[in-house]
Amino acid sequence: MTDKLIIFDTTLRDGEQSPGASMTRDEKLRIARQLERLKVDVIEAGFAASSNGDFECVKAIAESIKDSTICSLARANDRDISRAAEALKPANSGRLHLFLATSALHMEKKLRMTPDQVFEQARLSVRFARNLMADIEFSPEDGYRSDPDFLCRVIEAVINEGATTINVPDTVGYAIPELYGNFIKNLRERIPNSDKAVWSVHCHNDLGMAVANSLAGVKIGGARQVECTINGLGERAGNCSLEEVVMAVKTRKDYFGLELGIDTQQILAASRLVSQTTGFVVQPNKAVVGANAFAHASGIHQDGVLKARDTYEIMRAEDVGWSANKIVLGKLSGRNAFKQRLQELGVAMESETDINNAFIKFKDLADRKSEIFDEDILALVSDESVTHSNEQYGFVSLSQHSETGERPQACVVFTVAGKEVKGQSDGNGPVDASLKAIETHVKSGAEMVLYSVNAISGSTESQGEVTVRLQNSGRVVNGVGSDPDIVVASAKAYLSALNKLQSKADRVAAQG
Ligand code: KIV
Ligand code: ZN
Repeated sequence: MTDKLIIFDTTLRDGEQSPGASMTRDEKLRIARQLERLKVDVIEAGFAASSNGDFECVKAIAESIKDSTICSLARANDRDISRAAEALKPANSGRLHLFLATSALHMEKKLRMTPDQVFEQARLSVRFARNLMADIEFSPEDGYRSDPDFLCRVIEAVINEGATTINVPDTVGYAIPELYGNFIKNLRERIPNSDKAVWSVHCHNDLGMAVANSLAGVKIGGARQVECTINGLGERAGNCSLEEVVMAVKTRKDYFGLELGIDTQQILAASRLVSQTTGFVVQPNKAVVGANAFAHASGIHQDGVLKARDTYEIMRAEDVGWSANKIVLGKLSGRNAFKQRLQELGVAMESETDINNAFIKFKDLADRKSEIFDEDILALVSDESVTHSNEQYGFVSLSQHSETGERPQACVVFTVAGKEVKGQSDGNGPVDASLKAIETHVKSGAEMVLYSVNAISGSTESQGEVTVRLQNSGRVVNGVGSDPDIVVASAKAYLSALNKLQSKADRVAAQG
């Protein structure tokens, strides 16, 4: 019998709760497909009852993903649970994840319920859910700050009602590794039916200890499921990072002695996709997926690595999906070579038309940039115009003039519902002038809350990747655009954000 650690990814639910990280249905589907390639055991696809948009996302993911279990969050009430079960109907394997706060603070101030009322609601909600689905997870929200005696009562009761996974959230990131590990150990020892459920950890990163706490929950507490997100995305300081926890368990198998189902070579593609979709840039020194994670700058280190890699490397870059930053394709590369490289990078395009569109963009880029790196290809395929030729706004061309001492001018040609229009404006700089030129037609009234530029492959020859975050009527969306010309990348990012703003989809972020 192998001792397996279940990886439960909540990028699309808890990750999305991060302000500004809300994603469209298509973006969530693309990420879910990458999570399936990564072979995560459970994908928490959303919070079906929180909005029609979330319901549709969970349902679409349940229809399309076949290898991972698909989960929906639900408050512990019949309406939420029924709605989640409905969205999960098409799933090969579905899970209902019920939560109800159990800490004195949350019960009194947030729920305004007595502990006895919470106990009854937890019990009855699991009973109700169990009639709809076999796989039931229960989370006592703010579990780590709850009274252990009360928690024991609630958990014993929900396991009796048929909960199959018990998750102990450190909702506010207050835990310390040793204390959190022992907290779970204690619960498991005291609750008579604790062996009837899989125990799970769910840690937030407010004190920077989400990964350490999760690992302690596994090692000391005996948990066999970790809830985590790609790049540690999540509210406030984020959640436990999937790539760090997975690589810790894999690299230190001597210590943890646990099996994982994850295909670690898909980690980098997942990290890139989530970062490009949300506009949350990965810091260069981030473990496992940061640009410098495997770079050896000092002479002594370089010398050591050249003589024997394990002098300074504890994991192989290839094992998490890094290929040497080599020139992969050029101007003369054909469609087959391009398609093969997409497959090697784990990028699945839905149709031949999508591949053709991406190939045209690749050729266009190769005409302007002699060296094309993996990073360029990943940025290119994450550009929505490749897969969404029917968007409201589409970039066509841009010209701008800037000179020291003169106010920059820009002229942008773009399509509105397929018809070409031209906008002209001046501005503080060429980017400002270009975005104002677009606004002369669109008049969105949106407020820009973030603008950032990132050099994709780290030199002045590289493409610029621009993220624009817009806010309008309480909705926040991100647009990402890439191009060797950062003014063009900015215009593309702006149009992409406008497309999302005007899309009809209801994208009210789930509130857990
Ligand atoms: O942090 C938390 O408590 C949660 C629960 C809903 C599991 O996200
Ligand atoms: Zn959480």
